Amino acid sequence: MKRLVSKNIEELIPYPPGKPIEELEREYGIKGSIKLASNENPLGSSPRAVKAIRNYLSRAHFYPDGSCYYLKRRLAEKLRVNAENIILGNGSNEIIELLVRTFLRVGEEALISDTSFVVYRLIVKAAGRKFSSVPMKGLRYDLKGMRKKVNARTKLVFIDNPNNPTGTIVRRKELREFLSDLPEGAICVVDEAYYEFANDRQYPNTLTYLNGDKLVVTLRTFSKVYGLAGLRIGYGVAKKELVNYMERVRQPFNVNSLAQVGALAALEDKEHLKKTQENNRRGLAYLCREMERMGLEYVPTQTNFFLINLKRNGAKVYQDLLREGVIVRPMAGYGLPQYIRVTVGLPEQNKRFISALRKVLFTPGNSRD
Ligand SMILES: Cc1ncc(COP(=O)(O)O)c(C=O)c1O
Repeated sequence: MKRLVSKNIEELIPYPPGKPIEELEREYGIKGSIKLASNENPLGSSPRAVKAIRNYLSRAHFYPDGSCYYLKRRLAEKLRVNAENIILGNGSNEIIELLVRTFLRVGEEALISDTSFVVYRLIVKAAGRKFSSVPMKGLRYDLKGMRKKVNARTKLVFIDNPNNPTGTIVRRKELREFLSDLPEGAICVVDEAYYEFANDRQYPNTLTYLNGDKLVVTLRTFSKVYGLAGLRIGYGVAKKELVNYMERVRQPFNVNSLAQVGALAALEDKEHLKKTQENNRRGLAYLCREMERMGLEYVPTQTNFFLINLKRNGAKVYQDLLREGVIVRPMAGYGLPQYIRVTVGLPEQNKRFISALRKVLFTPGNSRD
């Protein structure tokens, strides 16, 4: 049969979706399992957002506000930028897609890093464009290595900061140096999906580049700290010329109305934000202490998840943890077959994960390769 799709699409492997929890429970004959696999907010959505969404439900027959007027203005005020610098998307994933579709022309390339968010390469490939990927160094972005790969075809650079799945950051000075010789017309996208969890003093403020001569796009999301992953809403901040081009490409009603009212309310929910950050800080401290007690190597993180180097088959440990009703993320797909990625949960979930991991790793005959 005549080939229906391009080679790029033929070669794509769909993003591996986690199975619904109910399905896993049925398959494994377990109940009351916990999911620490998708870096969601264990405290749930912002209660203010939930209330606002409930109040709005009866208006779901109207199309959403295609310009996200109120949300854009509130975000602009909060971030101290202009509303014209902001583009809203159906999750920040959609902004990644818009960036690729709008700016990456035939013959141009994206530059990414190995062991970073898999969606960058999926979207670039699906668009029929090319990327080059640079290995990390010690599970951190090798920006010096990436600088060497920048060439006249480089149009989009994706930097995930903090990085999923490693949890590590690119520091202010490293980013500044990298940007200093980024050629004119190349766009550096800094994905800050976990921005609100990062507390390292060296973590850069990418909004300071907005009025400079380099093209920097900052991506943020309501999926993580605000707990609105299911609603799909995220945003990009960039020079208004860049926003303007993406506005031409996006669908007219790309952000649904419940997501808009939910996000607007979540932005005012300082209590939920604080609680989330505090739960994460305490949870991480506990989990890291337990890693040390078990003699397990882990990667210090600036996010709400972390990597554990089990030094044995991570996929097997993942399966054994499933049987204990704990869902984590195996990492073989990221080239880290001995690792698992675990999202910080509520205190009781973290405890349950630790006791399941102990059982899986230290019961004789368990989880061997
Ligand atoms: C690095 C990174 N960027 C973006 C996203 C997606 O965010 P959104 O839910 O806003 O599409 C995620 C979600 O896992 C992520 O880890």
